Amino acid sequence: MFIRTEDLTHIYMPGTPFAAAALQGVSLNLPRGGFAALIGPSGSGKSTLIQHLNGLLRPTGGRVIVDGRVVGADRGETLRLRRRIGLVFQLPEEQFFAETLFDEVAFAPRNLGLAPGAVAERVREAVEQVGLDYAAFKNRSPFQLSAGQKRLAAIAAVLSLRPEALILDEPAAGLDQAGQQKLFRLLKSLNAGAGLTILVVTHHLEQIAPLVDTILVLNKGRLVMSGSPAQVFSRGEELRGLGLALPPVSEIMHGLARTGCPVNPAVFSLEEARREITFWRREACGP
Ligand SMILES: Nc1ncnc2c1ncn2[C@@H]1O[C@H](COP(=O)(O)OP(=O)(O)O)[C@@H](O)[C@H]1O
Ligand SMILES: [Mg+2]
Repeated sequence: MFIRTEDLTHIYMPGTPFAAAALQGVSLNLPRGGFAALIGPSGSGKSTLIQHLNGLLRPTGGRVIVDGRVVGADRGETLRLRRRIGLVFQLPEEQFFAETLFDEVAFAPRNLGLAPGAVAERVREAVEQVGLDYAAFKNRSPFQLSAGQKRLAAIAAVLSLRPEALILDEPAAGLDQAGQQKLFRLLKSLNAGAGLTILVVTHHLEQIAPLVDTILVLNKGRLVMSGSPAQVFSRGEELRGLGLALPPVSEIMHGLARTGCPVNPAVFSLEEARREITFWRREACGP
């Protein structure tokens, strides 16, 4: 297993009247090359969890194991880990500081002490990886890009470290439908093409479900579900109980199943829904 947590617990401000358990006994597995979505109501611990996966936060209890090594055991190791597991924060553009896209993306490789030629090569590679035209964008101010381009630039800044895994905290938040689609397609291509292991925190279930192999559901700091999208969506009532909206296709399939039409309620893509409905319409649905 590439990334693993064992009984991970995190308490903010322990030993004070403000002590809050943000994670309680979370054990999960992310295989190398996998693509997983992490969902859960607001305040369920998603952001806290992902900051443990590259050693930014230290567990109050339990442990995180990456590639067979316990995270946090060794300082030098933890610094290397931050390069191997790239973390894209929520609203990453709020942390832009450079005058040009080039300098923004070059920040991390320069910090590695690489020669200018090697830095430039990494910047070009990362900018092209996210689908931005290097020549057209390298001298532009990152502050003057569109919302979607800013997100792509922030992802390029992390990719410039050539990480093995990419973890993103609500990367599609605030983007329009087209921007969201573009972003999720990029994640799929980084996963399928470049082989990056990806974990994405998102509530855009409709777009993400057909792309990922695993969905993890957090509630009140506990991992309450984990499985393939079909497995998770078959528990639609529970998801709804957590205040999580199902993809519209899933809602319809659950609704049909509730009213006696024997369709498979775990179906969440339009294509599968069409197959289910055309099959059952002949059998049992019609009056
Ligand atoms: N820096 C912090 N100090 C104290 N409590 C925090 C801090 N960050 C998050 N929390 C609390 O931990 C819980 C989980 O938060 P978070 O991981 O941000 O959840 P999510 O990302 O799912 O919205 C919430 O109750 C939140 O208020
Ligand atoms: Mg969060």
